[in-house]
Amino acid sequence: MSTRRSRYSAVAMIFHWLIAALIITNVALAWTADEMPRSTAAGLMAWHKTFGITVLVLSFGRLAWRLIHRPPPLGQHLKTWERWLAHIVHWGFYVLMIGLPLTGWALVSASPLIKVYPIEMYGLFDWPAIGPLANLPPAEMKAAHETWEGVHHLLAKVMIYGLIPLHVLGALKHQFLDRDNELGRMIPFLKAPR
Ligand code: HEM
Ligand code: HEM
Repeated sequence: MSTRRSRYSAVAMIFHWLIAALIITNVALAWTADEMPRSTAAGLMAWHKTFGITVLVLSFGRLAWRLIHRPPPLGQHLKTWERWLAHIVHWGFYVLMIGLPLTGWALVSASPLIKVYPIEMYGLFDWPAIGPLANLPPAEMKAAHETWEGVHHLLAKVMIYGLIPLHVLGALKHQFLDRDNELGRMIPFLKAPR
């Protein structure tokens, strides 16, 4: 009974690890594309867009699931500041899991290239551009593109240099220094937390 209540549900774990893997892959794709010649970079960025839109769709599903299903309560032993930090990081992630792909979608929509290279979803269908951005006059489109590009880069930095290190170091500190089996909340084959 206590084991079940201290872990996230299977659905929450699948959402967590699928989205985490896609986000990490997407950062790796963007960074690798930066170092590549144009022709190779375009192929990598096509996957970046596809995976990013997949994260957007999955994150709406995950958020809906999270609002309906209560997560397991945080351990009683956590200090007040640790509880606050955990909540800020978790909700910050939800904002960025939706905000990052939305701003990516906006920046590619505000470009004439979207008409030539639409966002392909696994060869099944093309994800549409955001109409009002795709139909702007050229000068306004360029300004909008630059604005959304700046916001996309900024949000990526907050995620990569802020939330991910705080989250991962926090989880590892609990697991290996405090030895409270925190990872067992999200990894099914590990021992459940106390
Ligand atoms: C980009 C990558 C990641 C994202 C976006 C992410 C996001 C999240 C979010 C939003 C939650 C809270 C879930 C909820 O209450 O709905 C969570 C919990 C958790 N995550 Fe991650 N995570 C990532 C990577 C990782 C990694 C690499 C680890 C392992 C080192 C990890 C370990 C955990 C654990 C143990 C919990 C449950 C802990 C708790 O409730 O305080 N996560 N994660
Ligand atoms: C999981 C969601 C996403 C993550 C984590 C992510 C992350 C990143 C990162 C780290 C960069 C490089 C930023 C830099 O060079 O400083 C980048 C660039 C870019 N992203 Fe995303 N992104 C996501 C979703 C999307 C989506 C959905 C699209 C479009 C549909 C998109 C389009 C782009 C484009 C075109 C660039 C290159 C922009 C430029 O540097 O000129 N991204 N993204």
